[in-house]
Amino acid sequence: MMRRKWMAAGAAAAVLAVAGCGDDGGGGSTDTGGGGEAIENAKQIDVGSMEGAKGEITYCQGKDTTGETKAWGKQFNEKYKSQGLSVKLVEFPASADEQRTQFVQRQEAKAGDCDVFRSDVIWTAEFASQGWLYDLTPYIEERRDEFIQPAIDTATYEGKIWGVPHYTNAALLYYRTDKIDAAPATWQEVYQQAADKGGIVFQGAAYEGLTCDWLEIAYAAGGTVLSEDGKKATIDSPENVAATKLMADAVKNGAAPKAVATYMEPESLTAWQTGKPAMMRNWPYAYGLSQDTPKLKGKFDVAPLPSFEGAGTAAILGGGNNVISVYSKNPGGALAVVDFLAQQEWQTQLTAEFTQASPLKGTYDQPEVKKAIPFSDDLLTALEQAKPRPVSPVYPQISQAIYKNVNEAL
Ligand code: GLC
Repeated sequence: MMRRKWMAAGAAAAVLAVAGCGDDGGGGSTDTGGGGEAIENAKQIDVGSMEGAKGEITYCQGKDTTGETKAWGKQFNEKYKSQGLSVKLVEFPASADEQRTQFVQRQEAKAGDCDVFRSDVIWTAEFASQGWLYDLTPYIEERRDEFIQPAIDTATYEGKIWGVPHYTNAALLYYRTDKIDAAPATWQEVYQQAADKGGIVFQGAAYEGLTCDWLEIAYAAGGTVLSEDGKKATIDSPENVAATKLMADAVKNGAAPKAVATYMEPESLTAWQTGKPAMMRNWPYAYGLSQDTPKLKGKFDVAPLPSFEGAGTAAILGGGNNVISVYSKNPGGALAVVDFLAQQEWQTQLTAEFTQASPLKGTYDQPEVKKAIPFSDDLLTALEQAKPRPVSPVYPQISQAIYKNVNEAL
């Protein structure tokens, strides 16, 4: 078993080396250079253009699992009706990888189909390098201090800011208080306890979510993906093998159901909602939906992710930034949408009603938020300490090398 793991990790290292050398690894049209010219010549947003904007703006995003987009879309359209401005929502599939493909196809065709796109935090470098986004630095500059710094960092590449954070994200360990006495302190204990008490569900399908789940354990174990200068793969390490082995053994010994190898966030949530699993790794949005599940209400709690025995703790920074396509025919109207979503009024609702973590610091002082999310202080700390995934214009290929190999191991 050990030998197979080493081989899987070695294969990932080989793919990483290729990605670093400029081959696009079959993952699409990625410009593997730094995108210098595109970045230098990027169109900059005119902040004043949102005043009095009219027309219909198309907002593209992944699946609206919590219903938040329907809620703000309605509020936006009511607010701007008399001005002649409205928003239309387009939903892409739930998987981050598929959302990216949908957006990439439209940008390659230079289609103005998505005025605003909710871009996963990992795509900033790629999209900016391709010259697909407006430079939103002038908008953020005016409000910089209101945001949690790591959220702004995810929208920053080569000194410019390409998106306005919509939500930020750090995963939690959900556990059943009627099955487990206290939140396990280490990943090793998580799996040991899960084995006897109904199992743990997480995101094990071959897609971005598995990269997050794996990195949380690998980084906690002390592993890394790239060297500090970003030039070499450091994937083939004993720490990364130990993390992979821990996850794969969990499936092998029944601590996690075999089906986790096909689960994305929605499937793990559905499994958790049946009431059988003792634990789940998921993002904060699942808190509200779990509270709304009669089988779970009052029977579960959440905790920060545990540590790796003998090593450290790590959370991975997730989230989505609202970016404006350079092919939009109405950048002023698009900015009005982006601005609406970054106001405290909507952000308080997003966190209190839909339990999505707000990137605005002020949200965590709101009484509605404190009431709806009793762990909001811990959440803020987790968000501020969460580690980013590797930053690279070829990040999608790097991630693919990870999740394909880890999925195979599972
Ligand atoms: C969440 C995170 C995002 C991550 C994705 C993986 O949507 O916010 O950053 O890439 O999950 O499935």
